Amino acid sequence: MTSEHQEKETVLSRRDFLATSAFLTATVAGFGIIAGFFRFFKSDVRYEEPSVFKIGKPENFPVGTARKLDDKKVFVFSDDGGFYAISCVCTHLGCIVHTSDNGFTCPCHGSKYNTAGKVISGPAPRSLPWFEITQDVDGSLVVNAGSEVPSGTKVKYS
Ligand code: FES
Repeated sequence: MTSEHQEKETVLSRRDFLATSAFLTATVAGFGIIAGFFRFFKSDVRYEEPSVFKIGKPENFPVGTARKLDDKKVFVFSDDGGFYAISCVCTHLGCIVHTSDNGFTCPCHGSKYNTAGKVISGPAPRSLPWFEITQDVDGSLVVNAGSEVPSGTKVKYS
């Protein structure tokens, strides 16, 4: 082979490389577009816990009760003023708070809330929300975690 012939082969080889690269890039992009098209028509169902749930009869929460419902991410309390529910989810980044001597503490970044869920030290930006409690026709207490009520809202049911 002459050096001229070798140079020509190198040029052709480079062209082949570029053509192959362009083809592969177009193919991958095409698959992405097709996948996106089918994804658009697929339902985006999320299986989350319902935000309205029964927690049991009032007699299961005698005065002085402080119960954490882990699966529902809510605290339920009962005192002389009635029943009330406070979220367990830290308003900073969503960790689950724990009760402490002075209220609630977040284990993730140290936010502290008082017993009413009000932030007493950050980084949490907002107080823990209080949720509505109602009573079902069968007498069960029902927490609506989708319905916030003003802090301090307590309800009495028997
Ligand atoms: S998630 Fe609670 S302080 Fe950051």
